Amino acid sequence: MKRTAWNTELGFGGLVLGGAALQHCIKGLRLMRALAPEVTPVLCATVLLFSLGCSRPSATSPSTPKATASGAAIVESSGGKQTAEVGTPLAQPVVVQVNDEQGNAVTGALVVIRGPNGTYLDPAVGLTDSSGQFTSNVSLGTIPGRYQLTASTTTKAGKTVDLKIEEIALGYQEMLGSQLNDQYCARCHNQESTPERVSNYDNLEVKPHPFTEGETLNKMTDADLTAIISHGGPALNKSPLMAPYGYTLSKSEIQALIAYIRMVSDPPYGAPGIVYAQK
Ligand code: HEC
Repeated sequence: MKRTAWNTELGFGGLVLGGAALQHCIKGLRLMRALAPEVTPVLCATVLLFSLGCSRPSATSPSTPKATASGAAIVESSGGKQTAEVGTPLAQPVVVQVNDEQGNAVTGALVVIRGPNGTYLDPAVGLTDSSGQFTSNVSLGTIPGRYQLTASTTTKAGKTVDLKIEEIALGYQEMLGSQLNDQYCARCHNQESTPERVSNYDNLEVKPHPFTEGETLNKMTDADLTAIISHGGPALNKSPLMAPYGYTLSKSEIQALIAYIRMVSDPPYGAPGIVYAQK
């Protein structure tokens, strides 16, 4: 009876955690339990910890495929610099390409992707396809912030070459800011039009900056941002084309917008206290 309950629990754990690595853990457990059935409670705790460790995608996964070729460089094809709500999958997969010395795509090269704790990569390890590419679906962890992924491949000489890819996980406040941006700001602050939104950027005599433009936005203090968003461009001696939003948006919504602007800025928004350059 005990035996059945134990197996069900493990089955459930397997479902949640998934992956070939976990299967490995379960096999190990079965063996241990067969050898020493009387210490089941102790094993229960140990294996739970163990399987959590094993379930993390990692380069040392026992199912690592064998490379049939190797390249000289690894480059990003697409999928970097995305934003997504914490713990949710990125809209686009991350695609990297392995090239040889001449810049030609290499098929069958081993690629390993790693991320900070909590990142889920599906798959984390694999071989490049016929176009030299390796594709992984990425979910960021539950902590808001910048997540740096490292994709690596090994050259003929046995040297590891790395590629850094950055993604951004938005917490509750930044998500709210992102939605407000879509609703009120993006039509002027984003040059690109989408099927849902035609950009107004080209019609503006004075050009606003995209919120990712850290060079400009990082020089503005939180007080500056609050002032221009609440009272419009003239609050900072800027163009009245930047309208006041203090009547439309609440204080906490303006804070959410600022949290979003700080989170997506590139280069990243650093320590406060940077002096704002007057125009
Ligand atoms: C109708 C177009 C328009 C909309 C909508 C708009 N802005 Fe602006 N914004 C501008 C313009 C134009 C400037 C540049 C003013 C200048 O440099 O004189 C600007 C400037 C700014 C600046 C200063 C940094 C920069 O880009 O130069 C911030 C911050 C800002 N806007 C935030 C917002 C926020 C937040 C929203 C949405 C709540 C928003 N804007 C909506 C047109 C707009």
